[in-house]
Amino acid sequence: MDRTISPLEKARLGYRPAGPAVLAAGTARVKPTDGEASASRDQADSLRESFPDLFGAPAVRFESGTADRARRPLTVGVVLSGGQAPGGHNVIAGLHDALADWHADSRLLGFLGGPRGVFESNHRELTPAEIDAHRNTGGFDMIGSGRDKIESTDQLAACRATSSKLGLDGLLVIGGDDSNTNAAVLAQYFVTHGQPTVVVGAPKTIDGDLKGGGLEASFGFDTATKVYSELIGNVERDARSAKKYWHFIKLMGRSASHVTLECALATRPNIALIGEEVRKEGWTLNRLTERIAGAVRERAAAGRPYGVCLVPEGLIEFLPEVGALIEEINGLLAGGVDGAALSQRLTPQSAGVYEALPDRIREQLLLDRDSHGNVQVSRIDTEVLLIETVRRRLAEDGEYKARFQAQHHFFGYEGRCAAPSNFDADYTAALGRVAALLIAHGKTGYICRVGNLAAPAAEWTAGGIPLTSFMTREKRKGEWMPVIAKALVALDGAPFLEFAKHRDAWQSDDAYVYPGPIQYFGPAEVTERTTATLQLEAGER
Ligand code: FBP
Repeated sequence: MDRTISPLEKARLGYRPAGPAVLAAGTARVKPTDGEASASRDQADSLRESFPDLFGAPAVRFESGTADRARRPLTVGVVLSGGQAPGGHNVIAGLHDALADWHADSRLLGFLGGPRGVFESNHRELTPAEIDAHRNTGGFDMIGSGRDKIESTDQLAACRATSSKLGLDGLLVIGGDDSNTNAAVLAQYFVTHGQPTVVVGAPKTIDGDLKGGGLEASFGFDTATKVYSELIGNVERDARSAKKYWHFIKLMGRSASHVTLECALATRPNIALIGEEVRKEGWTLNRLTERIAGAVRERAAAGRPYGVCLVPEGLIEFLPEVGALIEEINGLLAGGVDGAALSQRLTPQSAGVYEALPDRIREQLLLDRDSHGNVQVSRIDTEVLLIETVRRRLAEDGEYKARFQAQHHFFGYEGRCAAPSNFDADYTAALGRVAALLIAHGKTGYICRVGNLAAPAAEWTAGGIPLTSFMTREKRKGEWMPVIAKALVALDGAPFLEFAKHRDAWQSDDAYVYPGPIQYFGPAEVTERTTATLQLEAGER
C-alpha cells in the first residue's frame, strides 16, 4: 500500500540542502592539516599498538580543484548504527549524490537493520527513486538501524567476507562514539588483512557527546533539542497560565547533559540539573532534593507555586551513591546474580541506598542492560523519583504551607525522528558528500568533518579526522580497550558558564522563552538558527 505523505513531508522532499562550494563540485583535492588536538597523546604507545596503520595520521581538508585520483565507478556500503537521529537519510542521500557526481556508474548498497546487516551480509542496492523519497525526512526507516557491535573476531571476519564478496570500495558507518570505535577497529582489521575497503564514520547522536578535537557537533542534536525546547516552552507557558503545577521533565542524553543544557539555554526553566556538575560537586540525592525543595519553597513564598525543572536522563548515574549502587548491580547481574538474591549481595552502603528508593525505581534499576552492560537510563523514571523525594521533604517541613502538585514528562523519542531542521538537513547532506570524497581518496579510519558550522552553510569547511585521535583506553567488561571517549559537558565551557550566570534569576523569575516549533520555511532568523551550544562554543554569542 502506498504511504500517504503529509503536505510538509512532500514540500520537504524538494528542499535542496545548502553547503560549501567545495562539496558541490563533486571533486576536490585533499590536503593534510595540522593543529587538531589529539585526545590520546599520553596513551599514544598503546593506541599505536592497536592501530599500527591508522594512529598518527593527519587530519585532512578538502580544497576546490581536480582530485589526484582517477574517477572510476565506486561501490560503497552504508550502515546506520544505534539510536535514531534526525538527518540520517540525508547523510545517505548526500553520499549517493556525491558518488553519482564522482562517476555515473557508482553504486550504493544499504546494509539493513544496523551493523548486523554487514556481518550477516543483509543488504539492498539503494536506487535514485528510493533516495528521492527519503530526502530531508526524519527516521532511519529507509534501511533501519541496530545496536549490534562489530567487535568479535568472527564478526570482523564476516564483515571482511561481505565487503570482499560485494567488492566494496568503501563502507560508511553512521553512528555515535561506540559505532565509530567499531569503525576504527574494522578499518584497521581490513588493512591488516589486505581488504581494500575504506571504512569511514559520520558523527551521529542526538546526545551531542561525539565532538571535540576538531569535530564541532554530531548531527541530530540541533533538531532534537529544538523539538524538546518547543515542548518545554509549551509546558512553561501552561505552568505560568495555570499557576498550580511543578513540571519535572526528563530529557534524553544517555550520559552527557548537553541536551538539557541546550534546552535550558533555549527556554530558561526555573531549574535545570546538569549531571556533570552533580558529579563534580558530589551532590547526593538528598542534597539535590533539598536544593529543589528550596526553590519550590522560595517560589511559593513569592506567590508562584509552580515551576519547571529539567532532568537529564543520565543524572541518575552521576549521583555518587546511586552511581556506586548501579555499578554494584551491573557487576552482580553480569555475574548471574538475579533480582531476589541481589539485594542481599550489595555492600551495606549500597543496600541502604537501594532500600530507600521507591519500589518503581528499584525495579527499573534491575531491568535488562544494554549491549555494553549499562543500565538503560531512558527506562528509569528519575523525574518521578525527584518528585517523590521533594514531596517527602516538603511534607516533613512544617513551614511549607502551599500544596506541591507535580506533573512528570519524558521527552526523548518525540525528537529523535523529527524532520531535520534546515541546519541538520544541510549538515547531514554535507557529511554524506564528505564520506564519498574520503572513500574516493582512500582515507580509511577517518570520521567526516564539516566545520565552521556556526557560519552560513556556504562558508562551511570539509575534511576528515582520524578516528584514532578521539581515542582513549577504558575498562570494558573487565578489559582495557581503545574507545572513543564521550564528550561530557565542560563545566568551564561557554554554554555551561552562560547557563550558570543566569540560573539564579531564572529560578526565581518567570524568564521563560517559548521557542515554538521548528520552522522550515520563512525568514532566515527563524529557519537558520543553530543551537546556543554551537554559537557559544564558536564564540558567536
Ligand atoms: P545513540 O547514542 O545511539 O545516538 O542513542 C542515544 C539515545 O537516544 C539516548 O539519548 C537514549 O538514552 C538511548 O538512545 C535510548 O536507547 P534506545 O533507543 O535503545 O531506547
